[in-house]
Amino acid sequence: MQLTDFFESLWTGYVAVTPQAAVIHAAFTGRGETVVNDHVAFRTFDQPPLSMACLEPHLLALGYRRHAPYEFPLKRLRACAYVHPAEGAPRVFLSELISAECSTSLQRLVARICASTDAGLPASAALFCVGRPWPAVTWEEYLQLRAESEYAAWVAALGLRANHFTVSVNALRGFESVREVVDFVAGLGFRINEDGGRIKGGPEVLLEQAATLADQLPIGFAAGEEHVIPTCYYEFARRYPDADGHLYQGFVAASADRIFTSTRAAG
Ligand code: NI
Repeated sequence: MQLTDFFESLWTGYVAVTPQAAVIHAAFTGRGETVVNDHVAFRTFDQPPLSMACLEPHLLALGYRRHAPYEFPLKRLRACAYVHPAEGAPRVFLSELISAECSTSLQRLVARICASTDAGLPASAALFCVGRPWPAVTWEEYLQLRAESEYAAWVAALGLRANHFTVSVNALRGFESVREVVDFVAGLGFRINEDGGRIKGGPEVLLEQAATLADQLPIGFAAGEEHVIPTCYYEFARRYPDADGHLYQGFVAASADRIFTSTRAAG
């Protein structure tokens, strides 16, 4: 799979459940901007065939290399960032739920999902765009997961797809700061993630980020049920040069921890 095909497939699957991203993207291009992706993020479970260990080889085959690991102990997640040598290629942020740290009932449900994901999965990076290749969980199971881990509920319902795309604020010509971008996006009528403040991080940690709140769409559950749940959100990131003058390539765990809540159900 070619890198451009990979991101086109991801984008198509992403905007199908994130209509706000298409509107915001069009609003940027309407102002003459070329939208460059800073990174694309994925969520998964830590059991084969869905674990990071199973997914990573497909990223490496695309030319990505490991950049740095991250840990989110409160959310029981581990993650890794990947970078690509091609100019302008988006970074990839891949995370997984550490199921052994969760309740027995959650572990059982995750094990069932992974066991019912059969061998017909694509043996390429197309795996990242496959959606939910396991039978739909029931609405009750979704709610049970969500009570313990919003992240687990999101993966169970939506599967393998881009959790968010991220606009590179550095690459925008008409916006000086993440705050200006956030004001612009809020002005289009979209809600911004306020967890820990609208702007996460800043020049002091070499990365400044903000995100919308996820769209809410009807999604299929077992027994033909449909329920409106949070899908995906759009993120905005500005990177700063380090002491050597190199643009920071990593992520900031404290900021990402707050951005994870963009898919939290409306209270
Ligand atoms: Ni992100």
